[in-house]
Amino acid sequence: MKLNSDIMKRIEKFCAGYYKKNNVAHDLEHMYMTEKLAAYIARKEGYDIDICRAGSFFHDIMNGLRHSGHEKHALPLARRFLRKLKVDEDIIESICDCILCHSTFHIHRAKTKEAWAVHDADLLQLIGPYGYVKALSLRLVEKKMKMVDAVSSSEKKQNFCAPRMKTRIGRRIAKDNHKFMKEYYKRYKQFRSLKFK
Ligand SMILES: [Fe+2]
Ligand SMILES: [Fe+2]
Repeated sequence: MKLNSDIMKRIEKFCAGYYKKNNVAHDLEHMYMTEKLAAYIARKEGYDIDICRAGSFFHDIMNGLRHSGHEKHALPLARRFLRKLKVDEDIIESICDCILCHSTFHIHRAKTKEAWAVHDADLLQLIGPYGYVKALSLRLVEKKMKMVDAVSSSEKKQNFCAPRMKTRIGRRIAKDNHKFMKEYYKRYKQFRSLKFK
């Protein structure tokens, strides 16, 4: 069976249950942001939108496990659920490709362009003002870092992520947001060291 609106709704409902139990970096907002961004990239780049949406829904389902290696945990859950819905095997494999390769460290293994879209959608949330607020609050609240260290660590994270986009649209959005943040960090440092013109 192909992905239709009924199947998409069932996938969304199934996955949402997992994100409700995830930490703040992988909560329900993260699921929907990934879905929206991946669908946007897919539409602009001519990729399969529903595979990108389904891959986004499944990509961070974790069952309370630690973050590292979570893609391997999501894979059998997704495969079993999609087979129960009688989704075509080739579509299941494409969705699994999105799940397995969504991290920057695994994207080089991707066999589909749809996996690129999910990867970029995930990574874009770490860049720009949106990513900055997320990274900073995580470091201050969960990791209990000092503000100066939290800002510096967030800056390093953004510098690492920004050049790693796989799609044309991802690169465009990342470049624009990163440019904005470079100016932000410059002013932050100027203010901290009281160097005004
Ligand atoms: Fe992830
Ligand atoms: Fe994610």
